[in-house]
Amino acid sequence: MPKKTTISLIKCDVGSLAGHHVVPKPLLDVGEKNLKVAKENGLINSYYVFNVGDDLQLLMVHEKGESNSEIHQLAWNTFQEAANKAMKLKLYGAGQDLLKNAFSGNIRGLGPGVAEMEIEERKSDPIVVFAADKTSAGSFNLPLFRIFADPMNTAGLIIDPEMAGGFKFEVVDAQEGKKVVLKCPEEMYELIALIGTVERYIVSRVWRARDDLLCASSSVTRLSLIAGKYVGKDDPVMIVRGQHGLPAVGEILAPFMHSYLVAGWMRGSHWGPIMPVGLKDARCTLFDGPPRMVALGLQISNGGIACDDEGKPMIADLFADPAFDLSRKETLKCASMLRRMGEFEPARLSVESMEYTTLPQVIAKLKERFQPI
Ligand code: F6R
Ligand code: MG
Ligand code: MG
Repeated sequence: MPKKTTISLIKCDVGSLAGHHVVPKPLLDVGEKNLKVAKENGLINSYYVFNVGDDLQLLMVHEKGESNSEIHQLAWNTFQEAANKAMKLKLYGAGQDLLKNAFSGNIRGLGPGVAEMEIEERKSDPIVVFAADKTSAGSFNLPLFRIFADPMNTAGLIIDPEMAGGFKFEVVDAQEGKKVVLKCPEEMYELIALIGTVERYIVSRVWRARDDLLCASSSVTRLSLIAGKYVGKDDPVMIVRGQHGLPAVGEILAPFMHSYLVAGWMRGSHWGPIMPVGLKDARCTLFDGPPRMVALGLQISNGGIACDDEGKPMIADLFADPAFDLSRKETLKCASMLRRMGEFEPARLSVESMEYTTLPQVIAKLKERFQPI
C-alpha cells in the first residue's frame, strides 16, 4: 500500500469577542496548545491554527486517514476546551456550534464543519485551503465550477493535455441527504442546473476524470438540519489541490477576482457579497460582515506541511494581495446597494431559508384580520 497523507480542516464557532466578530487570542491559544501536544505525541505531523471571523480553524496534516476517530476526538476536545474558556471569559455565543454533548467517534453531525482529503503525495503537492465566515457551504459552488469546469476561467482545461477529459463533481442534496456524481464537460448543463441552487445542492468533492485523482473536498453541513432550528450559518471550509495537471494556484484564485453573492451575512438571513481577505482582515464588522473568505496556500511534504528552517509550517496568505482589491471594492459597492434595500427581497433571503424570522408570528397575530379578497 502506498503511503497516504491526510489534510483535515475542522472548524467550529466556540465563542467570540464583541458579538460574532472574531475569535480572540485566548481561544486560539487553546488550539495551538492542544495541536502542539498532538504533534509531539505523533498523532499529527503538522498543524496551523487560525480564525476566520468567529470560527476557530484547526488545520491538521497526518497519516491517519479521513474520518479518523483520534483526529476528530482531538478537534472535539479542543473545541470543548475553547468553549469552556469562552464561557469563563463570558465571551459571546460560547459553544455556539457544539450542538451535541457526546462524541462518538466522528465529529460530523455534531456541529463543527469538516473538510478532509486523503492523498497519495505527488512529487510536489500544492494545496489551497479556503475558509469563510457568515455564509454557507453552497458559497463554494460557483468558484468550484469556475475552477474545474469553466474554460473561461481555467486555461488548463483547454491547453493542458493532462486535464483533457475534464473533472467529476460530487453534488450533495442537503435536503434529501442524497448525492450524485456529474462529469464535465459532458454534463455541464445538468451540473449548473443543480449547483446553481446553492442553498440545496452543494459540491462536496471533485476528481480528475481520467484517473479519479481527488482534487477538491468541501464541508457540507446544515447546522439547522442537525439542531432542528436556526443556529447560524455553516461557515464552510474547503481543500483544493493544484498544479501539474490540475488547475494552477492562479486558476484556483481567479474566480475571486470578482465578488459574488452568497447566503448568510446578518442573522444568516441575507444575500451578501463575498469579500476575499487576508488573515488580518478575516473579521466580520459591517452588518456582521460582509461575508469573508480567506485562502491559504501550502505545500504537502512527507506527511506534513513543508516547514521553514525553524520548523514552522510555511503558509501563504493568498488573498492578502492588492490583486484582490477590485473584488473588495466590488464587495463594498454591492454591500452598499443591498443594504439600502433593508428587509426587502432579494436583499433578504427567501422565507424558506430564514427560520430566523418573525413572519410566522406576524401572520399568526394578523390571522383574524385577514379578509378574503
Ligand atoms: C450570522 C451571525 C450573526 C448573528 C447576529 C445576531 O451567522 O452569527 O449575524 O446572527 O449577530 O446574533 P444574536 O442572535 O446572537 O444576537
Ligand atoms: Mg458566532
Ligand atoms: Mg461564523
